[in-house]
Amino acid sequence: MKNINIGIVGLGTVGGGAVQALIEKRKMIEAKTGFSLNLLKVFDKDATKVKSLKLLKSKKAKSVNEVLDNDEIDIVVELIGGVHPAREIILKAIANGKHVVTANKALLAECGNEIFTKALKEGRCVGFEASVCGAIPIIKTLKQSFAANKISALYGIVNGTSNFVLSKMAEDDYSLKKALSEAKKRGIAESDPTVDLEGIDSSHKLAILATLCFGGIIKLKDIYVEGIKQVEAQDIVYARAWGHDVKLLAIAKKHGNSLQLRVHPTLIPLKHLLSNVKYEDNAVFVKGDMIGESMLYGKGAGRMPAASSVLSDIVDIARKVNSLGVESACASDNLWVKKEELNKISQIGDLMSRYYIRISAIDRPGVLAGVSTILAKNGISIANVSQKERKKDQVVPIAMFTHDAKESSMMRALKAIDKLSYIKKKSVRIRMER
Ligand code: HSE
Repeated sequence: MKNINIGIVGLGTVGGGAVQALIEKRKMIEAKTGFSLNLLKVFDKDATKVKSLKLLKSKKAKSVNEVLDNDEIDIVVELIGGVHPAREIILKAIANGKHVVTANKALLAECGNEIFTKALKEGRCVGFEASVCGAIPIIKTLKQSFAANKISALYGIVNGTSNFVLSKMAEDDYSLKKALSEAKKRGIAESDPTVDLEGIDSSHKLAILATLCFGGIIKLKDIYVEGIKQVEAQDIVYARAWGHDVKLLAIAKKHGNSLQLRVHPTLIPLKHLLSNVKYEDNAVFVKGDMIGESMLYGKGAGRMPAASSVLSDIVDIARKVNSLGVESACASDNLWVKKEELNKISQIGDLMSRYYIRISAIDRPGVLAGVSTILAKNGISIANVSQKERKKDQVVPIAMFTHDAKESSMMRALKAIDKLSYIKKKSVRIRMER
């Protein structure tokens, strides 16, 4: 039996869950793995969070340095989130000879290269399974199980909160505000939930996944990001009437040397498996030259799903260090730091897609003719039109599906449409995937 001493910094939703699981599951994990996971110290700058955990006084550190400088600690678990001071805490932990486990997607998306370079130099492991898709083992799958594949695409639902909000709007007739408030109560939303709703959290996760899939270091500025705030319940109703659902997708596709990286609300057919991924569940499709297409599915957010991945990283590091020795364990683990590959990032304007459009127009003769003339001038062909309400001389929504069109043409067309005197609100457009 090998004793692994653990220090946890950050006792919020995931940190609290990790502490609880380490205590409650210690015996079971010992029996399964032969490692005894010993929670030695915890720290959070919010004393009420520390107090709520009812731990022995000796385990409660008075400062973060009491954890980082403790010679007995093998693995520091960073669960405070955000870039600073998490970056400094992790770099110091590595410098002090600790392995690190983190759920910090924002930090890895921004400073992953710096952290993994430091870890490689010091011969330490950094586990980050909990940073993407909660309980789903997508990181280990990409690093290990799919290692022999040339990946051509990865796409899916990677933010539980926005999926929860869209599901509640679609299934239970909730407003965005009410759905978000429930997501917060369930502990799935970020402390600033605009990060979830505006697609930023998904872009952090996509940066991590794309870095593992496509080589090179993917930068956040390479990812086109649009959130779900413009999506209204009526868009979901129109989409469903036409056999589609609306989901916030993170998409990475490689065509030759060109890499497309985007996060935005997307209409997908109701028969697509992603349509059935609801509430806080996440799912990711990976396309590889050997595996074909594979989908990983499960709980993407929440206390215990994320804590499960934290504990899995702890066990994983313990196993590797035990069997390979510290230096080799780290080298075998570190897929982040590698020669920059030449990925040409595609511009969003070059995207070819079908679109859903909703315009808000005064209900009078000639409106559709004016709108379709502008679309036609930009080479955009309409596949379907629906106007559910009839309110003569008042503003009504009109929804359309288009055939494949170029994004830059669509943007130009909508700009011109929104200038028409009878268009009374900014038009909404949502891209479609098949
Ligand atoms: N706020 C995140 C989400 C938590 O909703 O997916 C998990 O990363």
